[in-house]
Amino acid sequence: MFEIKNYINTHKDRFINELLELLKIPSISADSAYSADTFKTADAVQQSLIDAGADNAEICQTAGYPIVYGDKIIDSNLPTVLVYGHYDVQPADPLDLWDSPPFEPVIKKTTTHPDGAIFARGACDDKGQMYMHVKAFELMMKTNSLPCNVKFMIEGEEEVGSENLGTFVKANKDKLKADVILISDTGIIANDIPSITVGLRGLSYVEVEVTGPNRDLHSGLYGGAVANPINILCEMIAKMRDDKNHITIPGFYDDVEILSEEDRAELAKAPFDLENYKKALALSDIDGEEGFSTNERNSIRPTLDVNGIWGGYTGEGAKTVIPSKAYAKISMRLVPHQDSKKITQLFADYFEKIAPKSVKVKVTPHHGGTPYVTPTDFVGYQAAKQAMEDTYGKTPVPVRSGGSIPIVALFEQELGIKSVLFGFGLDSDAIHSPNEHYGVFNYLKGIETIPLFYKYFTDYSKT
Ligand code: BES
Ligand code: MN
Ligand code: MN
Repeated sequence: MFEIKNYINTHKDRFINELLELLKIPSISADSAYSADTFKTADAVQQSLIDAGADNAEICQTAGYPIVYGDKIIDSNLPTVLVYGHYDVQPADPLDLWDSPPFEPVIKKTTTHPDGAIFARGACDDKGQMYMHVKAFELMMKTNSLPCNVKFMIEGEEEVGSENLGTFVKANKDKLKADVILISDTGIIANDIPSITVGLRGLSYVEVEVTGPNRDLHSGLYGGAVANPINILCEMIAKMRDDKNHITIPGFYDDVEILSEEDRAELAKAPFDLENYKKALALSDIDGEEGFSTNERNSIRPTLDVNGIWGGYTGEGAKTVIPSKAYAKISMRLVPHQDSKKITQLFADYFEKIAPKSVKVKVTPHHGGTPYVTPTDFVGYQAAKQAMEDTYGKTPVPVRSGGSIPIVALFEQELGIKSVLFGFGLDSDAIHSPNEHYGVFNYLKGIETIPLFYKYFTDYSKT
């Protein structure tokens, strides 16, 4: 423990500066305008693995952005930790809501982060959290304390569905052989309330198109006599939830895992303050499915949300028009046992069924993802728990998260390896939002805690 802290204290300024350099490269996977930068980020990650002491670090080309693979094999009889992370980031827009440019990282103190936080797109999701692993690896190499084998698999398409990573995993099962997958791409409850994510939701994502008349029409001459696709789309979306906020798609809940009262009571132990929650979001009231708490609504229950809706005239001033088309992007977060393909089909069937004859509709599926649960009796979980207990002085709370990392279920399915979701971010770090940031405390705490995970995982695997 002392040696870890000592190494971090000596090198922390460099650890921070190296991360700032990585954050300057805009690796936005969703936007092809940033393609060269995204490739460049992969090269930077590869170099960082070599510098940290990897035996070998490769750029593995895919049909999209490359996967950076690196490893250090010390003894084939020892366990192997496979670290997964992503170097791609979400688009930064809306740019005018950032207090400083998203790819010019700055460190500022906040009330939540009195030691300072790094403000930049990707600071928390996931460059900052991924880079903790590179630095923890460096620390173990330089202090001669790496207790087992380690492999890195850092991808550049997480934010766009990880499709090529799935192909890579299926084609490289031997190369990726490991005993645990270690991922820092989630969060903790608070800096004084450590927690470990034990559940991720799955995802079905669709785009819908509603077509009314074959061209935009004068809303005076035709208004009232033909279907307005935007009005119809709004009515159809409204029909998808009842007054108890249950989703009305037939069959939607058929496979939903029902937690026992004991399990619900266990999860309810995670501290939560509703007043602070509302205050942080400037809400006078919350909203959600009847019969479930806020923490349940956003983790163990499935959802249906419009992520974007458009059509007609949205420019300056007024234009009197009945648009020909209306569109929406809709996400459904799924919970254990729900199948993404099946849910997408149920959605499409229902959407087509409730469409009035006055319009035509089209449903286009986007990416999906399977939910995931880490069992708390898995050695990986136990090692993570002990590591956090050592560095936080408190037992971490197991929590189910509402977010998705679709590839995690595929890892288990294809490689037979369980994942430990060892994230150190905070919900208030504004991932995917303007002013994303990551606490310097969290960054350094992660670098401190990760080597202990390796130590306990190796110890526990022997017995
Ligand atoms: N790191 C997040 C997921 C996350 C964040 C899970 C915090 C739990 C807590 C990841 O990068 C992400 O944004 N995932 C996407 C899914 C993907 C298919 C675009 C998501 O959850 O929307
Ligand atoms: Mn992420
Ligand atoms: Mn993300």
